[in-house]
Amino acid sequence: MFNKKYDTLVWVSILLSLFFLITCSKQVDEELYLNKTKSVVQVFKTELQTNLFRAIQERGAENSIEVCSELSPAIEEKIASENNFKIKRVSEKFRNKNHEPDEWEKKVLQNWSRELKDGKKLTVFSEIQNAEYRVMNPIVLDNANCLQCHGSKNEINPKTLEKIQAKYPNDKARDFKLGELRGAFSSRWKI
Ligand code: HEC
Repeated sequence: MFNKKYDTLVWVSILLSLFFLITCSKQVDEELYLNKTKSVVQVFKTELQTNLFRAIQERGAENSIEVCSELSPAIEEKIASENNFKIKRVSEKFRNKNHEPDEWEKKVLQNWSRELKDGKKLTVFSEIQNAEYRVMNPIVLDNANCLQCHGSKNEINPKTLEKIQAKYPNDKARDFKLGELRGAFSSRWKI
């Protein structure tokens, strides 16, 4: 009688410890992934912006379009081959169809748009989805330079507009205003 009870207690405590061990170690992994993603995004963002703004200054926006279209996939590939994860940019108003968000990404972007309207500061969003750890880092259009290619017709010079329209006939990435949500860096870790 006593032994049986004792046995049950031992089993319950073993199971409980296992449960905590598993949940705790998951939490540590998530934090690790999150921190790694944050630093990768920082590098990605800086590399892209530095090259883009330098190009605009040296040869004008109309001759800098390829910086955005060629450099970002190159960075994405470089990062993906170095680490066990993928990163890309997504946007509901995308210029390149490769940046069209999936359902999960769309939901995060729509929540952020609501939060921005309510005057909230956006924060990184992460979730485990089908054996993947997914992270979304917001991209808010916070630099006037961006408007030279993503602003209104008056803000984009005619030559640039012509080139953009020729290359992206279904372009949705225009008429943005400063402070609006432009999209996100969307990362996925295999777990
Ligand atoms: C010289 C023109 C130019 C400037 C300036 C520019 N972009 Fe872009 N942007 C593009 C082009 C072209 C694409 C499509 C790239 C591709 O084909 O992958 C793009 C794509 C993007 C995307 C991916 C989603 C999509 O629409 O396909 C984001 C996000 C983005 N730009 C944000 C920005 C931000 C933020 C700035 C300012 C820091 C900026 N861009 C400045 C030309 C520009």
